[in-house]
Amino acid sequence: MSDKKATLSVDGKTLELDVYSGTIGPDVIDVSPLTGNGYFTYDPGFVSTASTESKITYIDGNQGILLHGGYPIDQLAEQSDYLETCYLLLYGALPTAEQKEKFVNKVRMHTMVNDQVSTFFKGFRRDAHPMAIMCGVVGALSAFYHDSLDIKDEQHRQISAIRLIAKMPTLAAMTYKYTIGQPFMYPQNHLSYSENFLHMMFGNPCEPSKVNPVVARAMDKIFILHADHEQNASTSTVRLAGSTGANPFACISAGIAALWGPSHGGANEAVLNMLEEIGDESRIDEFVAKAKDKDDPFRLMGFGHRVYKNFDPRAKVMKQAADEVLAELGVDDPLLRIAKRLEQIALEDEYFVSKKLYPNVDFYSGIILKAIGIPTSMFTVIFALGRTPGWIAHWNEMISGSYKIGRPRQLYTGPAQRDFVPLDKR
Ligand code: SDX
Repeated sequence: MSDKKATLSVDGKTLELDVYSGTIGPDVIDVSPLTGNGYFTYDPGFVSTASTESKITYIDGNQGILLHGGYPIDQLAEQSDYLETCYLLLYGALPTAEQKEKFVNKVRMHTMVNDQVSTFFKGFRRDAHPMAIMCGVVGALSAFYHDSLDIKDEQHRQISAIRLIAKMPTLAAMTYKYTIGQPFMYPQNHLSYSENFLHMMFGNPCEPSKVNPVVARAMDKIFILHADHEQNASTSTVRLAGSTGANPFACISAGIAALWGPSHGGANEAVLNMLEEIGDESRIDEFVAKAKDKDDPFRLMGFGHRVYKNFDPRAKVMKQAADEVLAELGVDDPLLRIAKRLEQIALEDEYFVSKKLYPNVDFYSGIILKAIGIPTSMFTVIFALGRTPGWIAHWNEMISGSYKIGRPRQLYTGPAQRDFVPLDKR
């Protein structure tokens, strides 16, 4: 119950609904009594729907604010590291030095996958999209952990979280190696998380592995910027799958599948393809016109956001990182110039200004990933890797509390009841 109330008058009835306030952000109206009064809410795309209470991440779309456990994303990206951010998302506080060392070592001890997993890859064509492979192999992990899939057991939830955070880089690198016909590289646990990932991606058994520290730091920052983002489509998918009691590996696999779409995590791959299709600054106006044309399905990939109606704070950090990494690597990528010019033109164009369309997290990330040497087809896999702690933190937050199975209703506009017509009478 709440002292704050909202009143809804409909069909001569007046309903009093509880209004709840969070720490920060909009109040919410509890509409659950509507069903008992013969009504549903109607909110396609959940534009105005708070599906849950959560303490993990806060976004203010108008101010362009993103907080994890209260800490601004730009401070975490500049001063923290990815595993520390994973700890923050899972446990709601930054770790002490001792807690961090224990957590990092726990993750280190779970980076290998059961060798049987390597046989799964052989069922895929070498040219399979890496996201198709990741959906399969991550979901299949549950087949190896029958001893710890009791989601009501807090220890089982903890070990599953550690296993997923630890094994995603290994599986992502195995996916890449499989598609280029190179042998899998085993994790080297003396390396940091991001160094280990780059070692497994670009190392080979014929020579000692060398990881560029500039690239490792950029990789770590990219993982931080993708770690969590409130109740986005893939996180909501993980929560909905989790609400049925499905095991965490199956839930994360469902999240990977949802992330794949070009309107969501697949946008980073689509941005690079778009920049390459634009090809030259002289063609930018042509593509901006296509994006504005209601009759043209083309959209400016990496622009717009359901929540941010101001700059995506992650895009700002990513843009700065792109400048730094390309300069430090001595990479002169014309696509970065096209991206910056495209951003400038779009942000001065009435269409984008009026619809509050700004660059999002996907607009610059691909430029950095390309400079690191990661192929475009692997971009969304990198997003999935980075997002895993967010997915698993939301799953754990739900399962460790009280929850119901997610079961939305609908506005039915199909035929009213009618009798069956035998074939000879149709
Ligand atoms: C991510 O939710 C999250 O938090 C997601 C994410 C995360 O970290 O989890 O932040 C990651 O998914 C970022 C978004 C990546 N997607 C893209 O970059 C794809 C391009 N953007 C869009 O398709 C679109 O902006 C969405 C899907 C991101 C948001 O769509 P909405 O909120 O449903 O908005 P909309 O489609 O209703 O668009 C509003 C208007 C429309 O015009 P009108 O019908 O009002 O005339 O803006 C137009 C759209 O046509 N519009 C665009 C556009 N995005 C929206 N027009 C041209 N180019 C675009 N990119």
